[in-house]
Amino acid sequence: MRKPLVAGNWKMNGSRESNNTLIKGIVDRSSQVANVEVLVCPSFVYIAEVAKQLDGSTVFFGSQDVAKEEVGAYTGEVSVGMLKDIGCTYAIVGHSERRALFGDTDHIVAQKFAAAQNGGIKPVLCVGELLEERESGQTEAVVERQLQAVVDLVGISALENSVVAYEPVWAIGTGKTASPQQAQDVHAFIRSWISKEDAAVAEKVRILYGGSVKAANAKELFSQTDIDGGLIGGASLAADEFISICEAAG
Ligand code: PGA
Repeated sequence: MRKPLVAGNWKMNGSRESNNTLIKGIVDRSSQVANVEVLVCPSFVYIAEVAKQLDGSTVFFGSQDVAKEEVGAYTGEVSVGMLKDIGCTYAIVGHSERRALFGDTDHIVAQKFAAAQNGGIKPVLCVGELLEERESGQTEAVVERQLQAVVDLVGISALENSVVAYEPVWAIGTGKTASPQQAQDVHAFIRSWISKEDAAVAEKVRILYGGSVKAANAKELFSQTDIDGGLIGGASLAADEFISICEAAG
């Protein structure tokens, strides 16, 4: 059995004050959530403080990105060693915003995946197609290309200790969720693609859905066979809504 995971990607949102309220709200209600791993990914600058606030709770924390290099003259970057040092357990890599706006190519994403894993942090690898790619029937080819870049670098077995997040780019922050069937179809494709190389890994790896998930649509999405939780953007910024989504995964 794969334990569901619901991860909040706070993106470039928050302040000390609003994070404090949000974390308090999540921790206060986290006992409502059974058999689900709950993860929050604040901006780098706030992770350490959020970590302190989460001390003693069951909520995990992670980062939204990680450097592909280990250490040295890389101004502005944050290494996996630093993230590990402050207790992060997960790092998102290859989010579509990083791919589209910050030059994260498939190969760079694969390098970040490898860096996270080598440093003892579980990568949450985001994959997903643009609207025009879906409309021209390329969804599977795009997702396959993104996965292949990682497998080429680290091998299929590395996926076992990672999480994949399928996030159709057209559904991110747009209010347009993939239908449960559309999402399930791609999740099943991803699992069968991994299974061709290693059935045991495919059975174990958690595949999250992301893209306009909210409390109102979470249950139906999470009830699909191959959907093992969610990567939540906007709706992770309000404790009640986020906890309701977490409950829907249980
Ligand atoms: P959204 O973002 O839930 O706001 O659509 C999801 C994500 O980008 O991870």
